[in-house]
Amino acid sequence: MRLMHVDASPKSNLSNSKMLSAYFVASLKKQIPELVVDYLDLSVDTPPHVTGEFAKATYTPAEERTEVMKQTLEYSDHLCARVLMSDILVFAMPMYNFSMPSSFKAFIDNLVRTNLTYNFNADGTTSGNLTRQKVLFITTRGADLRPGLSPWSHMDALTPALTSPFAFLGVESPWFVDAQPLQFSDQVAREEALKRAYDDLGAVASEWGRNIN
Ligand SMILES: Cc1cc2nc3c(=O)[nH]c(=O)nc-3n(C[C@H](O)[C@H](O)[C@H](O)COP(=O)(O)O)c2cc1C
Repeated sequence: MRLMHVDASPKSNLSNSKMLSAYFVASLKKQIPELVVDYLDLSVDTPPHVTGEFAKATYTPAEERTEVMKQTLEYSDHLCARVLMSDILVFAMPMYNFSMPSSFKAFIDNLVRTNLTYNFNADGTTSGNLTRQKVLFITTRGADLRPGLSPWSHMDALTPALTSPFAFLGVESPWFVDAQPLQFSDQVAREEALKRAYDDLGAVASEWGRNIN
């Protein structure tokens, strides 16, 4: 059983999302001791942005790619292989300006690959290849964007920005634990938000541990 653990906060050990994801992975590992964890910190190993060369290479059929094109796609090929060989995917990130950190967007841009993570079918439809993976998104937010709880609730562009590309890749029902409010609130509300998130993560780890074992 293989789990890929991806963190996107640029903060080191003071990061809320990193602490929450570490807690979740440790909780799950207690229940599944044989779990192999593949860790990626996007603030250390930041995926390259899409370039003109990448756009050309990715849409050139594999058998027609030049050596230069193959080199251009090397990072993305390797990333797709790591994700495809994982059974569980845990993605943790802060909300930045109502959406995701740019490092995670670059991660997605390197992950969505024709005939690798999704297929163009003969009938014109597409189908994703990440159908067997269990996926958990852990997000941390400064404000409280739960429906009706803040004037910014309707501005949550992060949740759809994550669900759409992963649905395209075949992830139909990802799990979410959103810790909020962690910054723009009083201390009591922050502590309650963190407690809720830790409790939710503990519950997800127990459920996954039971279902997988
Ligand atoms: C550049 C930047 C942009 C942010 N934008 C938002 C935002 O749009 N909405 C929000 O609720 N919090 C926002 N925050 C607050 C973070 O999401 C929040 O502090 C989060 O807990 C940080 O997670 P981390 O400790 O894992 O980095 C922003 C923080 C930074 C540094």
